[in-house]
Formats: sequence, C-alpha cells, structure tokens
Amino acid sequence: MSFKTWSEFPTPIIGLAPMDGYSDSAFRRICKEVNPNIITYTEFTSADGIHHNGDSIRRRLQFHPSESPVIAQIFGKNIETFQTAAKYCEDQGFAGIDLNMGCPSKKVVKSEHGVALRRNCDLAFQLIEAVAKATNLPVSVKTRLGWSDASDLTAFGKGAESAGAQMICIHARTYKEPYNVPAFFEPVYELKRNVAIPVLGNGGIISMADGMAKLGNLDGFLIGQATFGNPWIFSESPPQTFSEKVDLMKRHTAYLIESKGESVGTREIRKHLLTYVKAIPGARQYRSRLSVVGSYDEICTVLDEIEAAIRDV
Ligand SMILES: Cc1cc2nc3c(=O)[nH]c(=O)nc-3n(C[C@H](O)[C@H](O)[C@H](O)COP(=O)(O)O)c2cc1C
Repeated sequence: MSFKTWSEFPTPIIGLAPMDGYSDSAFRRICKEVNPNIITYTEFTSADGIHHNGDSIRRRLQFHPSESPVIAQIFGKNIETFQTAAKYCEDQGFAGIDLNMGCPSKKVVKSEHGVALRRNCDLAFQLIEAVAKATNLPVSVKTRLGWSDASDLTAFGKGAESAGAQMICIHARTYKEPYNVPAFFEPVYELKRNVAIPVLGNGGIISMADGMAKLGNLDGFLIGQATFGNPWIFSESPPQTFSEKVDLMKRHTAYLIESKGESVGTREIRKHLLTYVKAIPGARQYRSRLSVVGSYDEICTVLDEIEAAIRDV
C-alpha cells in the first residue's frame, strides 16, 4: 500500500501500540498475520543511537516485509540526530516516522526525552519541523494527555500540526498516571475537533469492539497491553481453542529466533508463552517449564503436551 500522508490511509486506523520489549519484529509479524489491515510501530529507538551508528540500536529497526506498513518510532531531543535517524528510517523502507513524546520512564524523562518534551513545547515543535523537513515520510507524534492534566493537549496538538505532524496518537493518560488507571478520552475528542490531521486514541482498550465504542470522532486507535498473549484481539473471529492457537505460538517463537537467534529468541519468547497460557487452567503445571525453555524444539514439546493435556480433560 502506498500513501504519502496518514490522511490518505483508510479509517479507522487500527494498530498495535509501540511497546518496548514487546512490539518487536516477531510480534508485529504475528499481529499482522491475525489482521493484515493493522498498522504497527517499532519499539521506541534512540535517535542518538542511530546517529552514532549503534549496531544493536539499528537492529531494533529491522523488520520483515510482511509487517508493512511499519512506523519507526524514535526518541531523543537533538535536532541533528533526529534528522539522521529520519533519513536512516526512510532508507530502511519504513512507512512513517513517529516521534515519542510520551515515554514516562525515569531515565528517559531525566534526559529530557519522551514526555519531558511536553514541558518544552518549543523544542518539541522544532524537532517535528526538522524531521518533517528531513524526510519524505509522514511524520507523526505519540504523546500523553499531558503532564498532570490535559489542559494543554489541544494547544500542543495544534502546535504539532503546524510544525508538520501528519498524525498524532494520544495515550489517554497523563504522565503522572500509571498504565492501569482508566484512560480518559474526552480531551482526545476535543483535540480532534481542533485539528485536521488524523488523531488516534489509545489507552485501556480491551477489544476491537471496545476500540470502536471509544472511537467517537477519532480516526483510529492503538491497542497495547491487551495484546499480550492475545494477538487475536485484532481478529474479527478469534480462535476459541488452545489447539487452534498453538501453531501461531510456535510461529511467534520461530520468528523471534529468526530475528534474534536461538539463545536470545528462546529467552525473550518465555514471557510471551507465559501470557499465552495464562488463562488456561490445565496449563498451570507447565508454566515453570515454559519459564526456562531453551530451544525451539523444547518449546514445541511443552506446547504439544499442554495441547494434549487440555484436549484430554
Ligand atoms: C511494556 C510497555 C512498553 C511500552 N513502550 C512504549 C514505547 O516504546 N513507545 C511508546 O510510545 N509507548 C510505549 N508504551 C506505551 C504504549 O504504547 C501505550 O501507549 C500504553 O501501554 C497504553 O495503551 P494500553 O492501555 O492499551 O496498554 C509502552 C507500554 C508498555 C506497557
């Protein structure tokens, strides 16, 4: 699919939220297999790291053609490194570049990156403008309602739009709020009434129906934590039994090993496997084994044993 601006993209725009440690290439491939129409974002990636040619940083930006369109999400605060990073992402074939202005982690905020840019709007807008000038790709911004309330959200969104942002996604919680409090979408609807660019809502969405119910005047929504162990959340007709799901779990494992090697891949798939089997009562006794699995074959063996055990119940 080719498009120059997010305004051309079919709505509602539904996507997997960027999540450090989760929305890597393997999980994005899996979610795209479940629903080929969704968009995906990379995990947030340091513009400084890309600029300084960090190999491990650049590895975070690898993706498989089947994932397209993928948005590369970058964070930082330096105009020059943002511009290099934007060029790099364009050369890699990404569909868009997203600027992270929402990350609340202590380290990120202390460095004046992520959500800290909401307290330095002039720099935030300069960064958007610089990236928009440095690339032909559509530039977007993902941020939160605000620091401790949403009083400046509309002003921020209008400023981002004037600076060249072509889409904005709002995680409908403030910086001060943890990830598990109810999201508050009203200020996001108000923002949309004041800008022409697509606005996506995000926060606490637990199903496609829930996302559609919260859509209001927005152009789409992203789902984050509710995808853990449940990529089928993006499906219109999700599988009902473990047997129907097990092949996808094995493929997820295979993709992770393909992209990161067997040692890292098998270590990183463990947390996903534990969430895949979380709600399955018969699988309780297998969880300790899943938390130490060390090879693809071993993972398939445990999953097959769970499937057989559940089938026989
Ligand atoms: C483990 C984890 C990692 C995250 N990493 C990122 C990230 O790299 N970039 C980003 O913009 N947001 C990140 N987020 C925020 C999510 O994209 C999303 O805004 C948030 O989880 C709210 O959506 P949800 O309630 O559907 O999970 C992360 C969230 C979680 C839980």
